[in-house]
Amino acid sequence: MPAGTPVLGAARQLGVDLDSVCGGRGICSRCQVAPAFGQFAKHGITSAEVALSDWNIVEARYAEKRGLAPGRRLGCQARILSDVVIDVPPESQLHRQVIRKDADARPVEMDPALRLCLVEVAPPDMQAPSGDLERLTEALRTQWGIEGATLEPPLLATLQKTLREGNWTVTAALHRSSAEAPPRIAALWPGLLEGDLHGFAIDLGSTTIAAHLVSLRSGEVVASAGVMNPQIRFGEDLMSRVSYAMMNPGGAAEMTAAVRAALNTLLQEIAARAGVQTSRILDVSLVGNPVMHHLLLGLDPVELGQAPFALATCSSQNLPARDLGLGALPVGAQAYLLPLIAGHVGADAAAVALSEAPDRSDELMLIVDVGTNAEILLGNRHRVLACSSPTGPAFEGAQISSGQRAAPGAIESLRIDPETKEPRFRVIGCGLWSDEPGFAEATARSGITGLCGSGIIEAVAEMRMAGLLDAGGLIGSAQQTDTPRMRPEGRTHAYLIHDGSTSGGPVITVTQADIRAIQLAKAALYAGARLLMDEMGVDKVDRVVLAGAFGAHISPRHALVLGMIPDVPVARVTSAGNAAGTGARIALCSLAARRRVEALVRKITKVETAIEPRFQEHFVAASAIPHASAPFAETRR
Ligand code: FES
Repeated sequence: MPAGTPVLGAARQLGVDLDSVCGGRGICSRCQVAPAFGQFAKHGITSAEVALSDWNIVEARYAEKRGLAPGRRLGCQARILSDVVIDVPPESQLHRQVIRKDADARPVEMDPALRLCLVEVAPPDMQAPSGDLERLTEALRTQWGIEGATLEPPLLATLQKTLREGNWTVTAALHRSSAEAPPRIAALWPGLLEGDLHGFAIDLGSTTIAAHLVSLRSGEVVASAGVMNPQIRFGEDLMSRVSYAMMNPGGAAEMTAAVRAALNTLLQEIAARAGVQTSRILDVSLVGNPVMHHLLLGLDPVELGQAPFALATCSSQNLPARDLGLGALPVGAQAYLLPLIAGHVGADAAAVALSEAPDRSDELMLIVDVGTNAEILLGNRHRVLACSSPTGPAFEGAQISSGQRAAPGAIESLRIDPETKEPRFRVIGCGLWSDEPGFAEATARSGITGLCGSGIIEAVAEMRMAGLLDAGGLIGSAQQTDTPRMRPEGRTHAYLIHDGSTSGGPVITVTQADIRAIQLAKAALYAGARLLMDEMGVDKVDRVVLAGAFGAHISPRHALVLGMIPDVPVARVTSAGNAAGTGARIALCSLAARRRVEALVRKITKVETAIEPRFQEHFVAASAIPHASAPFAETRR
């Protein structure tokens, strides 16, 4: 660099992403760098003090008013005098990598759709009349090299006031939907806006809606919360909601209004709890299955209820958040909906693919996102397949006699002694097992209320291992029923886990009908996975990833005993947590990730379980426990 080049200018010429909001005016401090004082002797440099110019008046004023940490300089003010090594700390890097905390610590590159730019706009001049907007876009062009920025009418109404309030200096939030697209001005503030912009990553599930408020500077999740999807009152599962739309004129619009209202309330609550002004929340990424996706967009989901399951659109969507009815967010806020894979495999599965990246794996990965509908991905860097399988709500505790949603008091884990047939269990909200001292006191408040999804899975698998069930899932042989825990119930039997009736609590049992419901659900899941394996031409996978909030709570060993997933060494079954939510967050933070998931979805081969005859064959075989193709054997224990 020629002597006298500001560090910020040198960084730009070298392609180093040094942040700046004020454009080098010495007021935003985003450009801070750390000259390497004496640490780089091998480069022949022993002191950066002589290599950089002294503080000028702007930097001195900043340091006096706001303070600069020792060793830090403002990159836009410090000028290079001779050879120097400069460290760009992570918080000053525009495209820094942040490490995901929730999964396996893979890096995510920060490349958000929004950036802040401070601009000085020329005041109006009677000699050269032009509009305030034209002078603003001209200032963006000359001061930031940003061509063709647009401002939509609702924001145009605030422009003149903001410019004058800021004495012709404003901070513009610029949103671009792709690196090439001209940016939209998403918000304007008078003077310099300090602090971060935020966005929401939203996982729109058919049962729960989860939202994460994310700093678009650090990538950190600053607050998260979830609510029940209010569409449940129109139908517990997806197909009943599609039926509701079919049978009731205006039914789809009712469900659209319900989910949008719930989202607005949720987003406002999260922002208030985190102390983040909604005016700074300008970007949203959304994932959901096709029915949730269509209803949010105000599209009738009727076509998704019957073959060929035609989507109104499967492409990613960029649109103003207000077009999704998100009135809780500012008028300039933008939304991005991830692409859909197929009629039954939605943007949630695309987000799981983005998060778990099977397309970058040498190993053959089977990724299962368990919910009312299971989304299944199978693949490696050569090929990725996807399908969805109708597991129904049994895994969430619904349609189970003592079933309930995961909440304090629900049995989440259970063991049965193979000799005595006596159960011991743990309930949500209490870390103790039922045979440990203090359990009764610890559960006095919540009570012992029922079995949640992981509890019922473990109960059925443990019953099988304890010899209380045969491979067909039948309770009934003399050996099985020869225990006081086994109670006659009609012409079948039920296994008693907990009798709370003496204290007014529930009697918690596993009935034959419960076992049948779990068999159907797990057979659907297993058959979907096997169908993809057939398509891939393999009879085993290298590893299995259980995704989804529910997947995080399933014991891999019990999932294998039950035959929910194909046989694989238990150590090769891992949980990815809420991978769809993680995928939404990655897409929120990175335009490059949006392009990546769009390209990946185009490459994924979709397999339609509903019309594939082999699905039915696998389904029938898989209703055995663990499954007919691999009889229960000592390898299970
Ligand atoms: Fe804003 Fe340096 S770029 S202070």
